[in-house]
Order: sequence, then C-alpha cells, then structure tokens
Amino acid sequence: MPGISSARLKQILNLNDFEAQARKHLPRAIFGYVQGGADDGTTISHNREVLNRIRLIPRILRDVSACSQKVTLFGQRFASPFMIAPMGASAVVAHDADNAMAKAARAARIPYILSANAITPIEEIGQSYPGCWFAGYQKPDESNIERMVKRVADAGFTAYFLTADVAVGSNRENNKRNGYTMPFRPTARLAFDMARHPSWLYRTGLKTVCQRGVPRISNIDPVERPSIFSSEIDAVTGYASFSWKHAEMIRRYWKGALIIKGVLSPEDAKLARELGADGIVVSNHGGRQLDCAVSPMEVLSAIKAESGSMTVLVDSGFRRGTDVVKGLASGADAVLIGRPFLYAAALGREKAITRAIGLLQREIHIDQCLLGVETCEALKEIAQA
Ligand SMILES: Cc1cc2nc3c(=O)[nH]c(=O)nc-3n(C[C@H](O)[C@H](O)[C@H](O)COP(=O)(O)O)c2cc1C
Repeated sequence: MPGISSARLKQILNLNDFEAQARKHLPRAIFGYVQGGADDGTTISHNREVLNRIRLIPRILRDVSACSQKVTLFGQRFASPFMIAPMGASAVVAHDADNAMAKAARAARIPYILSANAITPIEEIGQSYPGCWFAGYQKPDESNIERMVKRVADAGFTAYFLTADVAVGSNRENNKRNGYTMPFRPTARLAFDMARHPSWLYRTGLKTVCQRGVPRISNIDPVERPSIFSSEIDAVTGYASFSWKHAEMIRRYWKGALIIKGVLSPEDAKLARELGADGIVVSNHGGRQLDCAVSPMEVLSAIKAESGSMTVLVDSGFRRGTDVVKGLASGADAVLIGRPFLYAAALGREKAITRAIGLLQREIHIDQCLLGVETCEALKEIAQA
C-alpha cells in the first residue's frame, strides 16, 4: 500500500495540517500516544495560548534581499533554526521512522535528535546521519552511565541531551482510554483498532515486524534491548533517584556537547551552567509530563538571563514560522519541534518529512522578510507587544 500521494501531500500547507491527516491514517491508540498529554492536557493548550498571545512589531523599508536563516549550534552550521525533537517509540507510528527523520533532517541540513526510547539502534542512525544528536534517559548507576556514554560516542554522535524531566512516567489517561500501553499489551480492542486502519497495519505494523522482528527499545542500556512486550521497559520513562549527581557523571564521561532537556526554572538553568552543560532545552515535554507546568515561553527570558554562555533551545507547541521567530526573539538560539514530524513520517516517511521541513523554512523566510530582519542573530532584536 503506497504512502500519501504527491497530490495529497501538496494539499498539506502547514505543520498543523499533518495532524488532521495522521488522525485518519493511524489507529486511535497510536494517534493518541503521539497527540496526547498528561492529565487534562492543560499544558498543551496553554503552550499554544502563550505563543498566540505574543505579537511581533515589524520594521519596514529594510533591504532583506539576502535573508538567511542559517544558525551555528554547538560548533555546527545548520540551514535553519529548528530541529526534530527526540521521540520515543516512533517506529510504532511509522515504519523505520527514526531513519526517515534522520535522513530527511540530514538532507535538509537541520539537526535530528534520536531518543533513547527509539526502536532503531544508535549505531544504525549514526550511519544515516553521521554526527547527529542523542537524547538519553539513563539508569542512575555510574557504570551504566559510563558504558552508555561510550556507546553513544562510539556511534559518532556529537551532542548528548539528558532528558531530565522524567523522574517518573506521567499520568496519560488518553493512553489508558485508547488501549495504548508500554509494555505493549495486545488486546482484542487494539487488534480491532489496527484492523480498521489497514494502511497503517500493512505499511507500519506488519512491515516492521517482518523486517525487524519484535520491536525492541534499543538505546536505553549499553547492552540490553528489551522487547516492547517486556515488563523490563516499565521504567524507561524515568528513574526517580536520578539527580544532578548523575548528570555530573555524564558530564565527566561525555566529551561532546551536553544539553539538559526539560529546564523550566532559572535556578535549574544556573545548576546546568555550573555543571558545565553546553546547552539547555527550555521545555515542558510538549505537555506530556507535568500538567499545569508553565509554558517555556513564559520563563524563557528569565532562564536566558541565567544561562551565561550556554546555548538555549526551546520547545513545546511550536508549529509556525512565527512561533520559531517568537522563540528566537525571546532569547532562544533554536527551536525543537516534535509531533508534526512524526505525523509526517506516518503519512509519507522522508518525502512528507521533507515537505514539513520545507513548509516551515518557507514560513520563516517570509516572516524574516516581513519583519525586516536578515539573520537569526538579528531576530533577537525584534520587538514584541
Ligand atoms: C510521541 C512522543 C514521544 C516523545 N519521546 C521523548 C523522548 O523519548 N525523549 C525526550 O526527551 N522527549 C520526548 N518527547 C518530547 C519531545 O522531545 C519534545 O519535547 C516535545 O514533543 C515538543 O513538543 P511538540 O511535540 O509540541 O513540538 C516525546 C514527544 C512525543 C510527541
């Protein structure tokens, strides 16, 4: 069964459009896993409300004919100030999704961050996108940390994001209601759900099992790769005893760029700086962890003030070129975007992800020109109301 046709892909005009199409294509349980948030989903809608409230003040009659959206992050030059966020279990959503996202990002010269919870091993993604970035959940155990960090370095990755806002797995009632569980528990209801979505069933479910066997969580441990049916993966969304002490261990063993992901308080930004981190991601995990958490955009300026020379990234709810511009104008160096790229992967793998990247790049270009700002650096000077 083919993926989305070129004609239908052309009808997708912005990142939000991917969600509506993916809702039709994916089983309810899988779509809900991607779209959902914690508790009542208050944080998800709040993230959007805060972004929507910000207004930009354009400057006119400036020559913007040489407009560029290139950025330098951790010593690497990229085509645009946004990247694909780490997303676990992506291969359940789209066949070979991690490779598709890595390859599309590499071709477009934007960063891609592989999740520890991915089904594709680090070593394989290291081939698809040499030098790309990794986001780890680590067991609070020094020997495990040392061996895992070595595995990531041996695979050629250059930046290590420590996912730090996952002390425990959050309360996701939508998953329970839809029948999505990790470890994966096959039920008659889930089978019915999948059977009602034959395009996903053949292009992702069966194809993945035929080509790779039982999916395994591949990057959570230096050696073990528990199957998605195994009770061993209960803990992979976090370790309650993981603390700054363990982050220091990662800093000691990891020689590349270290970024702490999930910072929402200026005090934690200060601790990250004192730890010797190279960067932080101001994030509420796309509303998937603590419901009623502040929006990253509400705290970005205060966190920036504590960040010293660290690179500051931001995510959670960014969808439009104007959102990216707002993030940069508020002090971020670049923006992470999650769900839309996974929806795109589900609909049409690399082709659709490439379209998503292109749509956002085009919006940023138009926004920069209309704001009268030729570079991402200069976006920091843009006034807001
Ligand atoms: C399906 C899914 C899985 C995710 N898995 C991870 C993960 O394994 N590690 C991580 O650091 N963040 C994970 N995240 C959070 C994203 O990295 C990112 O912070 C968030 O999606 C940004 O919000 P957005 O989806 O609204 O753009 C996940 C998000 C989604 C949607």
